[in-house]
Order: sequence, then structure tokens, then C-alpha cells
Amino acid sequence: MLVGQQQRLQDDIREIVAQLGRDRSALIPVLQELQKRHATVSDFAMQVVADELGLHPAEVYGVTSFYAFLRQPAQGRFVFRLCRTLSCEFEGKSRVARQLENDLGIGFGQATPDGRFGLEWASCLGLCDQGPALLVNERVYTRVTPERVHEIIDECRRTFGAHARQAGHSQVEGGLS
Ligand code: FES
Repeated sequence: MLVGQQQRLQDDIREIVAQLGRDRSALIPVLQELQKRHATVSDFAMQVVADELGLHPAEVYGVTSFYAFLRQPAQGRFVFRLCRTLSCEFEGKSRVARQLENDLGIGFGQATPDGRFGLEWASCLGLCDQGPALLVNERVYTRVTPERVHEIIDECRRTFGAHARQAGHSQVEGGLS
């Protein structure tokens, strides 16, 4: 990678970190945003992310390698990833999972026919004391209830609606705001 390209990537990562935060919990959202902008997370990018978040590069590399969705193009414009690890299981993850399946009309590992929503399982998101934890694109939701699922999906649908009214603007960028 050329020096100029490295500098641009570094600036981009700093901008993402400034938006999403420097906490340990920001690691996955930062990597997702990076993947979205650059289609891949390079070794150099992992090093910069580690420096910016004050983490060991091995930890960033481990997370990127562990989560398949950080290495693959996302399915659906809003991808819901619900943690299915033990602490979230105890906090009612199954009820949230059923609600997501009912409201979206798809099962885990599937996307809606219009490509707007995807539903996937995630392993522990590092928010075990605030479960059930749900990631929607780069946004994290904690202590999610079935009732909250309605609201989150409504928020996504409203985002699509707002963009649909803009003629010729069909691309929805990022998560919810
Ligand atoms: S068990 Fe769900 S966030 Fe850790």
C-alpha cells in the first residue's frame, strides 16, 4: 500500500473512531464501518484500529478472524445480529429471536426477498451484563425486549420510507441515526 493510501486509510479510521467511540465495545462497530467503506479490513487497518482503541493488535485480529460477517459482504441493508451466547440466552434471547423472526418474516441466516433486512446469529458481543444484545448494522442495542424489537424495526422501515420519497435515491447508508 502506498504511503498516500495509508494516510487516507488512517484518517478514515480516525474519523470512524471519533464517531463511534474509543471504548472496547466500539471495536466491532468500527470494524464493520471500515469493512463497509473499504470492503475489507487489511492488516494495516487492524494495526491502526488497535492503536486508536488502545488494544493489542492480536485482539483486533482475533475479532476480525472470529466473526465471519466482518470478512463477508453484508446481506440485506439492515442486518440484525442477535447474540446467542449464554448470558444473553439467560436474559431472554429466545423471546427476542422469535419476535425478530415474526416481525421480519424470515429465519436466521435469511434475508427478506426485497433485500432490505437480513437476520443472523452472533457470538458474544462483549455486552454480557446488558443482554440480550443486538447489533443492527453498526449500532448496538442492549437489554432488548420483544416490544423493543417492534420499535427498532419500525425505525428501520421509516428510514426506508424517507429515502423512498427522494426520487432516484435508493441507497440507504449506514445504520440508524
Ligand atoms: S453473551 Fe451476549 S453479549 Fe456476551
